[in-house]
Amino acid sequence: MKQNRKYLMSVAFGCAALLALVLATGSFQPTRAFGGLFTPLDTNKGPKLTVNELDHDFGKVEQQGSAEVTFMLSNTGTDTLEIMSANPSCGCTAAVIGTKKIAPGKVSTLKVTFDPHNKAEGGFTKTINVVSNSVVEPQKTLRIHGVIYLSKLAHKDMMHLDGVFQGNCGSCHVDKGKGELGAKLYEADCAICHGLKADNKPGPDIVSDDMMNHTPEQWKKIIADGLANTNMPQFHKRNKGPLGDEEIASLVDYLSAFKKNLVRERMMKSGASVPHPPTN
Ligand code: HEC
Ligand code: HEC
Repeated sequence: MKQNRKYLMSVAFGCAALLALVLATGSFQPTRAFGGLFTPLDTNKGPKLTVNELDHDFGKVEQQGSAEVTFMLSNTGTDTLEIMSANPSCGCTAAVIGTKKIAPGKVSTLKVTFDPHNKAEGGFTKTINVVSNSVVEPQKTLRIHGVIYLSKLAHKDMMHLDGVFQGNCGSCHVDKGKGELGAKLYEADCAICHGLKADNKPGPDIVSDDMMNHTPEQWKKIIADGLANTNMPQFHKRNKGPLGDEEIASLVDYLSAFKKNLVRERMMKSGASVPHPPTN
């Protein structure tokens, strides 16, 4: 007992002396000072994360498509590697870890999916921060990058109207028209398909006779119920479309006003006298 205490005292004294020496010389190198007793800087021991690639290039990514890559997470260390988390820098990116505990010499996966929908055309770079108990880089940053482009051809391949007002289709075909009436609603919901052939538009331009030679009743019916066997959709809510009576009436009013103006302009161009505004 007594001897024990003496021993502890001398150990404590020894430590204090060593600490004083270290402080005095101002250099503290644990591996040297303790002669390998602790080896906090020894990267050959413990778990070690090695990733097959640090920056993945997706190249060109179609705006309506998606991009996915699986990183391989290897444990090149000597103890079980644990992946604590893998956090992407943006909500448009998902990262799913396979096995979180990886034995030495084994491999797990990190599936990263980038969703380009509603993202601007052009370059993008996102990061995924991988936190693990690795002795080197316990916080490792992986990158994905690429260039978003909008393909008209991809769209042309699916010339059907199924779901045109839903989900991703709706993001182009209806969302911009929500809450709008008249001209603005036409711009959002109709001009997407109605325009010049040169612009690839499948429907006739608003100034064309095809578009204008209808009565308000006919317009109302065409908009509400579509045109069978064509790509003119059914817009009325009763047909699972996005528009109600008020919105459709506002489009009919807009087309009527447009027609009136057009008739007037054409008459002026042809030199005929402008008719008096209707008195009724
Ligand atoms: C990125 C915006 C965008 C998305 C998303 C989109 N469309 Fe379109 N869609 C257009 C444009 C613009 C046109 C007019 C034709 C053109 O310019 O290629 C069009 C035209 C159409 C046409 C008529 C094509 C023709 O040539 O007759 C159909 C049918 C159609 N879309 C269905 C869909 C469906 C179904 C979806 C979802 C699966 C969808 N669209 C998603 C932009 C989009
Ligand atoms: C997905 C594409 C698409 C959208 C969106 C669309 N149309 Fe059409 N529309 C067409 C096509 C294609 C035709 C031509 C049908 C045919 O072959 O006769 C057409 C035909 C028409 C016609 C009849 C023209 C004729 O030849 O008699 C009217 C009127 C019309 N659309 C109005 C509208 C209005 C108003 C909207 C917006 C609420 C709208 N369309 C939205 C594709 C579209």
